[in-house]
Amino acid sequence: MTSSKDSPSRLRTVRSFVRRSGRLTTSQQRALEELWPGYGVEFDGKLIRFDSLFGRAAPVVLEIGFGNGETLVQQATENPGLDFLGIEVHEPGIGHCLLNARDANVRNLRLIRHDAVEVLDAMIPTASLSRVNLYFPDPWPKKRHHKRRIVQPRFLETVAERLSAGGSFNVATDWADYAEHIDAAVRESGRFVCVEKRVHSGDRPLDRPGTKFERRGLKRGHRIWDWRFVRADNRPKGLASGEL
Ligand SMILES: C[S@@+](CC[C@H](N)C(=O)[O-])C[C@H]1O[C@@H](n2cnc3c(N)ncnc32)[C@H](O)[C@@H]1O
Repeated sequence: MTSSKDSPSRLRTVRSFVRRSGRLTTSQQRALEELWPGYGVEFDGKLIRFDSLFGRAAPVVLEIGFGNGETLVQQATENPGLDFLGIEVHEPGIGHCLLNARDANVRNLRLIRHDAVEVLDAMIPTASLSRVNLYFPDPWPKKRHHKRRIVQPRFLETVAERLSAGGSFNVATDWADYAEHIDAAVRESGRFVCVEKRVHSGDRPLDRPGTKFERRGLKRGHRIWDWRFVRADNRPKGLASGEL
């Protein structure tokens, strides 16, 4: 007999998101049907060959949890020499991103609709990414939910493995408590060096456009933390691991 302690729901992996039941607009629904075949990559657990996916060899930038995709599409438009891969689970956001991508006529963008932790593990080749962007990850502010935060030791390990030599990991948050968590987790991982850190009021972002959740945080009076980390084994001369 299975006790409630061992039931599948108790054994389920802790995830950094809950499936929100946000309603799709008609145009988002249509975008998922008509535009997904052009931009979407199905989760199949197989390593992606970026050259084949994008039809060329160019540096690949990954954005984790792109929300409505506004920032992702802007970066893809402004950087035609780079290829962009976005991962998100929220369907209305993916629909919104597809519409923006079509309107901007971007060719250097692909999307995956799946848990980014699993995509990183199963589909992203070692040392294949020139940059990973994690902008305003869900803060999970209650202490009992901190285990849901995406920045965890294993996640950091995987991001470090997937970055190419000289690649960067760019993170931003508007939650002071998550900022402390990120600083501590990155330092303890020993896998990254912080080459730039800014704390500001939305006026001095590192090289990224503003985001929807950043604007939301600023309206609430939050400060913004922006970091650029590089792999510790590629640290610029003179910087120790974890040093700011
Ligand atoms: C607070 S929102 C930020 C969205 C966007 N980056 C911005 O700044 O406006 C965090 C997003 O991450 C997504 N997310 C959280 N965990 C994820 C995961 N494991 N895989 C993919 N997306 C995830 C959520 O669905 C949500 O849209």
